[in-house]
Amino acid sequence: MYSVSKLADFSPAALDSAARELKSALEDEAAAVSGEGEWKALRDRWMARKNGILTQLNDQWLKAAPAPAKRDVGQRVNELKKLVEEHIDSASARISTSGTASRLEQERVDVTLPGTRRKIGIEHPLVRTMNEIIAVFKAMGYSVAEGPEVETDYYNFESLNFPPNHPARDTQDTLIISGQQGKPLRERLLLRTHTSPVQIRTMEKQPPPVRVVVPGRVHRADTADATHSPIFHQVEGLAVDSNITFCDLKGTLDQAAKAMFGSSVRTRFYPSFFPFTEPSADMQISCFKCGGSGRLDGAKCGMCKASGWIEILGSGMVDPNVYGFVGYDAKKYSGFAFGMGVERIAILKYGIDDIQLFYQGDVRFLEQFA
Ligand code: PHE
Repeated sequence: MYSVSKLADFSPAALDSAARELKSALEDEAAAVSGEGEWKALRDRWMARKNGILTQLNDQWLKAAPAPAKRDVGQRVNELKKLVEEHIDSASARISTSGTASRLEQERVDVTLPGTRRKIGIEHPLVRTMNEIIAVFKAMGYSVAEGPEVETDYYNFESLNFPPNHPARDTQDTLIISGQQGKPLRERLLLRTHTSPVQIRTMEKQPPPVRVVVPGRVHRADTADATHSPIFHQVEGLAVDSNITFCDLKGTLDQAAKAMFGSSVRTRFYPSFFPFTEPSADMQISCFKCGGSGRLDGAKCGMCKASGWIEILGSGMVDPNVYGFVGYDAKKYSGFAFGMGVERIAILKYGIDDIQLFYQGDVRFLEQFA
């Protein structure tokens, strides 16, 4: 490695050759620098005040020069100083631009890579089931209505012929908004237990004929388990016109059951009770798994618990008392109503074993409906 040597003679020729030797060492060393650490070492080796090469030039060349040569040596040493500074500066510039280049290289973006794919959302299976049910009734001329989830006692119970303190209220226990003791019972707010209040709201707004379906969320004081949820969904139906009979109820609901579960499904009506319908009936469909035999592959059918029938909705002829609450003439008009649980229909249609799956938002469950 280059080091400054004492000069034996200070003739221009000797100075030229010593300067040449220094320059070529400087060029080689500056060219070899490739990183920040190496550059700092170069700078210190050449320019450090203490014992850097330039300091040595001062000591060993300039100070040692005899008086007649001092001027010439001084000039040459100054030129060499400038040259050293230039080389060290340009080495610094070179490594910092090549540093930039490598950073660009590291951070480069491949614009041809595919972007982040976001899956397209789908209807929630409950919304989908509600829409399927609604479509069946729309095709039969029904329109769609909705009503509030926070209802008054009047719409949820009283106008539907559940008198105050009537035991039928106990079957639909719910959340009552607190601090309303000062209000008359009929004005007190609660979370609706069924979509039936929208029957009343619809009839208050329009005279017959009425044909309407009502999808919506309802609330009951039920403990959550695999088949119960305190919040669930219903689709309600109401048809009021002149000369509507139980026959129309049966024909309409039989047609709807076939549209929803397949044309080979049969229906039967089973006596039931609701305060706002008379007579009332639960509709059952023949099991679409076992065809109504109750047996599947030589064993008991799990879908209908071997009975061959599955209950899917409550229904009945609108009780004349209800017409009294909305100002319809019970002698001129008659009608029927029905209500079905959306979760129950979806559970049956899609073979779901736990109602809670609808509310957990687990993509692995939901994406099966895409
Ligand atoms: N509202 C009733 C319930 O939630 C269902 C129903 C609706 C029954 C309309 C008859 C007529 O249980």
